[in-house]
Amino acid sequence: MREEQVTNGIQVLSEEEQKHWHLIEASIWGTNSRRASDHFSSPVSDTLLDQPRWIQPHFLYDEKGSRLFEQICLLPEYYLTRTEDEILSQEAEQIISLSPAQCIVELGAGFSKKTTHLLREQLRQREEAAFAPVDVSLSSLIGSRDALQRQLPDLSFHGLCARYEEGIRSIEKTTPTLFAFLGSSLGNFDDSDLKRFFPLLSDAMGSDDFLLLGVDRIKEVEVLERAYDDSQGLTAQFILNVFEHVNRVAGGNFDLEKMSYASSYNSELRQMEMSAVSTCDQEIRLTKEDVTFLWRKGEGILVEISRKFDPDQLLQQLRFYGLESVAHFSDPREWFSLLLLSKG
Ligand code: TRP
Repeated sequence: MREEQVTNGIQVLSEEEQKHWHLIEASIWGTNSRRASDHFSSPVSDTLLDQPRWIQPHFLYDEKGSRLFEQICLLPEYYLTRTEDEILSQEAEQIISLSPAQCIVELGAGFSKKTTHLLREQLRQREEAAFAPVDVSLSSLIGSRDALQRQLPDLSFHGLCARYEEGIRSIEKTTPTLFAFLGSSLGNFDDSDLKRFFPLLSDAMGSDDFLLLGVDRIKEVEVLERAYDDSQGLTAQFILNVFEHVNRVAGGNFDLEKMSYASSYNSELRQMEMSAVSTCDQEIRLTKEDVTFLWRKGEGILVEISRKFDPDQLLQQLRFYGLESVAHFSDPREWFSLLLLSKG
């Protein structure tokens, strides 16, 4: 793996954006300064004082959270990863031949395990390949880099430790790129996230670019509810761990002993909702933000949503952003969909 910005002649970051990035680890870049518009830097209390209260889900992915999430992906109840992985392993050859890209940019890549099918196929069909995973979790990027270095030594790895938006905005437009947004991460967006995300992505895409979107489909409620409340309690730990992270960044006094995990399917909004519920009346103090509030017994704080999709409806919605369907892959039970799209 190479460390220079231009790898194998494949330019990943655009010329003018390169100055915003610096090497933080071998083959992994971070942004120099968080831009003002970035709500990464906005106080946690902004959303905790909303009604209903909620937390920015990116706080889930600290080192412990990222590790827990990896374990969730292996759970028998959590069918999403396994199903998507099956589709990818079967269809990688087709996906790669339909989308002649030089660079694969994965948004919210995590440890990029499933993406290996695409990368291997990319190297096989094109002989050279750049991979730019974008993730806020540095530990995940390091894990992904080290694993890929062993498995696919010819791949040029270019990790971007940043939010999706920062990654998307920095990718070189003239390099044919396959954007991958897998794991139904799209389902974690609410309407306003969605309306911010797709125009940005669509703008960044040229006529030689593709988008591979992995989405979880609407199905039996019991199957969904089990996937987000497993018998080992890992999902509960993953969700409640967000409060440890918030305590660190905001000087908070959240006590995991005084809350419980609650999740349910909202059939009207077609989404799973994952929350923490206070088990007593308690005063929450965020010393670094100079904020206190009363968290009442039984009151929830929404930590994450996971929307479920009807792929045809989604495709129709995406047309509005100039994204046209190239191919649609699913599993025999039709639980999960991989949509390949291009800028029509
Ligand atoms: N994108 C994943 C999903 O919506 C994120 C996720 C997996 C998740 N397991 C979770 C989010 C449990 C919250 C709780 O399925």
